[in-house]
Amino acid sequence: MDKVNLAIIGCGTISQLNVPGYLEHERCDVVALYDPITERAERRAAQWELAPRFHESFEDVLNDSTVDAVELLTPTSLHPEQIIAALNAGKHVSCQKPIAGTVSETDAIAEAVARSDKTFRVTENFLYYPPIVKAKEMIESGEVGDLSMVRIRTVWSGAEPNQSYEVEDGALEWRQDSNINAGGLVYDDGWHKVATAMWWAGDVERISSIVSKTDDFMIESPSAAMWKYANKDCLAVLEYASAANMPLRGKYYPGDEFMEIIGSNGILWVTRCTGEMLDMPPVVFHHDGVTTSYQTPMDWIESFKGASRDFVDSLVEERQPNMNIHFAKKVLQTTLAIYEASETERWVRPETIT
Ligand SMILES: NC(=O)c1ccc[n+]([C@@H]2O[C@H](COP(=O)([O-])OP(=O)(O)OC[C@H]3O[C@@H](n4cnc5c(N)ncnc54)[C@H](O)[C@@H]3O)[C@@H](O)[C@H]2O)c1
Repeated sequence: MDKVNLAIIGCGTISQLNVPGYLEHERCDVVALYDPITERAERRAAQWELAPRFHESFEDVLNDSTVDAVELLTPTSLHPEQIIAALNAGKHVSCQKPIAGTVSETDAIAEAVARSDKTFRVTENFLYYPPIVKAKEMIESGEVGDLSMVRIRTVWSGAEPNQSYEVEDGALEWRQDSNINAGGLVYDDGWHKVATAMWWAGDVERISSIVSKTDDFMIESPSAAMWKYANKDCLAVLEYASAANMPLRGKYYPGDEFMEIIGSNGILWVTRCTGEMLDMPPVVFHHDGVTTSYQTPMDWIESFKGASRDFVDSLVEERQPNMNIHFAKKVLQTTLAIYEASETERWVRPETIT
């Protein structure tokens, strides 16, 4: 494939961050948009200076033979059905996380992927954020040594930052519907953190946790999960806290992340993702009595641009991009195991979540 003809399905909030990387890619043309709120698709086309086809239904997109691939940016509960329909229609599929709320849905997606000769991947932008990628490279090279602890803490602020994008009407309503979501923030945002921690250090053996349930079915703070990785002497701690009255410096979500990886050779910090609270280099490593700082691109949009770039490149180069359905299933099992461990007040092994 020389050039990828892409359709964007869902032109809501995240499309503002997800699509620019496709617009910049010289081997990608965004040829079609679909959103049931037509005005939204038209507004995005104007913002992105595109003259796409505006389809009237998802089925119309799937019947459009000029569309090679779809990027699904729709409410999470729609993902399993849309992924399977698009693969069955012969389209390459990239879908925003989380891809499903149940393991049986991920199994159905895996069957559709196995039947198809097209590419499927989950758009997991954290795995393309340059400071997180730099940490991965340093772990893989052996610089950090044998890992013994991975910490990922997220602070949620009640005050909106100076957002560089609009939160669309309705974006919170579907998230707060407990009938169609497996959980709140620990599911929706936790997916990213679990994926990152597993990408760095591997599969999870068993989990213990406390998840706070909140009336809004979203913030779930404070929450903490602790797990042991499989086949290594390494633990992880995942923390969610809220600083409801604290305005947060940053252009994107009202959240701030800080990550710490301790290995036998040193301590590695990723000091930021979306938030811009600390005036620090994004990656810092202490080893041999020396503290070394690494500068990488660190604007959060780079994570989305990297994910978009890699989807197009993977289609052109005919290779599987990160994250495939098998990794996605493990991330979902681990995320759901966090809830089960809290509810049952027991250790839970992710592979028992079916
Ligand atoms: N990677 C990240 O950091 C990140 C951040 C935010 C959201 N997300 C994910 O992106 C997805 C969308 O979230 P959002 O915040 O953009 O939500 P949103 O509600 O702002 O946008 C969803 C859009 O999908 C449209 N839509 C509804 N039904 C549709 C259908 N049947 N077919 C096509 N379009 C349909 C809606 O009209 C809306 O415009 C979710 O799965 C969410 O978890 C990821």
